[in-house]
Amino acid sequence: MADTTADTTHLKKPWILTITGAIGILILLLLPVLPLFKDAQTMPETAVWIGRFHPVFLHLPIGIFILILLQEIFGFMRKDKENGVGFPLTVGVFSSIAAVICGYMLWRSGDGSYGDIGERHLWGGTIFTCAVIATAIIKKWVLLNGWMVISYKIPLVASVGIMFFTSHDGGTMTHGKGFLTKEAPGPIKAILGIKHEDKDDDAGKTVADPVIYADVIHPIFERRCIACHKEGKTKGRLNMETFELVMKGGKEGEAITPGDAADSNIVYRMELPLDDEEHMPPEGKSQPEAAELAVIKWWIDAGASPDLKVADAEMPDEIAAIVGELVKMPAPGKGDDSKEPKGHGKPDKALVEQLAKITAKYPGTLTFESQESAGVVMSAVSLRSKLGDAEFAEFAPVIAHLVSADLSATSIGDSSAAQLKDASKLKMLRLGQTKITDNSADTLAALSELESLNLYGTEVTDALLAKLATLPKLKKLYLWQTKVTEEGVKKLKEALPECEVILGVE
Ligand code: HEC
Repeated sequence: MADTTADTTHLKKPWILTITGAIGILILLLLPVLPLFKDAQTMPETAVWIGRFHPVFLHLPIGIFILILLQEIFGFMRKDKENGVGFPLTVGVFSSIAAVICGYMLWRSGDGSYGDIGERHLWGGTIFTCAVIATAIIKKWVLLNGWMVISYKIPLVASVGIMFFTSHDGGTMTHGKGFLTKEAPGPIKAILGIKHEDKDDDAGKTVADPVIYADVIHPIFERRCIACHKEGKTKGRLNMETFELVMKGGKEGEAITPGDAADSNIVYRMELPLDDEEHMPPEGKSQPEAAELAVIKWWIDAGASPDLKVADAEMPDEIAAIVGELVKMPAPGKGDDSKEPKGHGKPDKALVEQLAKITAKYPGTLTFESQESAGVVMSAVSLRSKLGDAEFAEFAPVIAHLVSADLSATSIGDSSAAQLKDASKLKMLRLGQTKITDNSADTLAALSELESLNLYGTEVTDALLAKLATLPKLKKLYLWQTKVTEEGVKKLKEALPECEVILGVE
């Protein structure tokens, strides 16, 4: 087939090759549509086994056809008459046929978890193989008739094009979407038009009003499940990337039964013994903690709502504690003042002990901003109305170290706010739905590091607003459902043009 060194005038017309090739192409094109094997169960064992060789063969044609293309390009530049691509072309054709047949078996024995992309990849591989068979045949005719060399190069280039497209789908199937580009540097992503997600951004994001699904449940799925249950890698045909997709379920039907955790496939799978083949995540992969499983079960039993807010949810204490722990605490925003060293020095032993003492009584309320920082982050989300002025007084030892405090929906009032006068490092403060009034205006106005303040659902008025005009770093002010007027907001904006005032729930 690849006897390219022979004198072309002695060549016979390659009719046999052409006819065999055409039959081969026809068979290959029929494979995906013929109902040959239904699934792994009804398939002969050998066929299932052959399927496993797909990854063994598939890289051969990729390498070979890139080589052929390079050889042609260099040959063309050096004006070579013959550059001996005949033999590689033959090997390339046969390895493609092997890869596509194994791939077909693999697809038939699979669980269909790759969905549309799997089918597209099958067709891509098949069409590529047909194209290279055609290319090889055309090359023979070209050789015989001395037609313009270009006429074989066109199908060659087209075949390689199909090959790149198909390999990309194959890569997406094994490694998931965006494997190549995910770690690309920002400028390269910009060129490719991919949104660059700054890794620090998440930490700086302010969760204004945490939602159980978005801020607690989905992050657990992210950590434990989505690696295998996402677009391009939907194992069990279950995609867990969004609420809607999880609710769509998988191959076995519904994944979540709202109101009934025990009947929900995801819970059933997670509660199977670890060594059970169906246990999720599969043995050896990072497993959810007991607390994570507990909160997922509670959320499903409570109706699996996509938009139930932490503040509105009726939670048993232990769930409230977990939610408080898991809700992404808004870390303080990064100030413009970059000369200031990051963090606030390492925490000293006394502070660590104080923190431990308080969290023993109020679990999950206090954490350090980072390992390297003495800045303390407070979240009373899990305590809510149980945190009153008396309880808040117990946090006095750490007040001076607070960088971020979420006291929303607690029952504290102005006397607690007064204690915050020592919170000279505080950048983020949330007092939404508390009893804070205008009487706290002076205390708040003295928190000179404050960048974000939430007062939603309180009784504050323009009188308090007027005093906040002295906060030089204030960037965000949440004021919906308060007594402030448009006039008051306008005045504040004049004093603090940089500050964004949020007057409605977005
Ligand atoms: C390492 C990859 C991997 C991870 C991580 C993983 N799964 Fe799976 N999952 C699979 C595979 C493979 C299947 C298909 C085989 C099967 O049904 O057991 C599957 C199937 C499922 C199914 C059945 C879907 C259906 O309808 O057929 C559910 C439900 C499920 N997983 C839930 C989860 C949950 C919940 C998590 C996270 C806590 C998780 N999985 C994490 C690989 C994974």
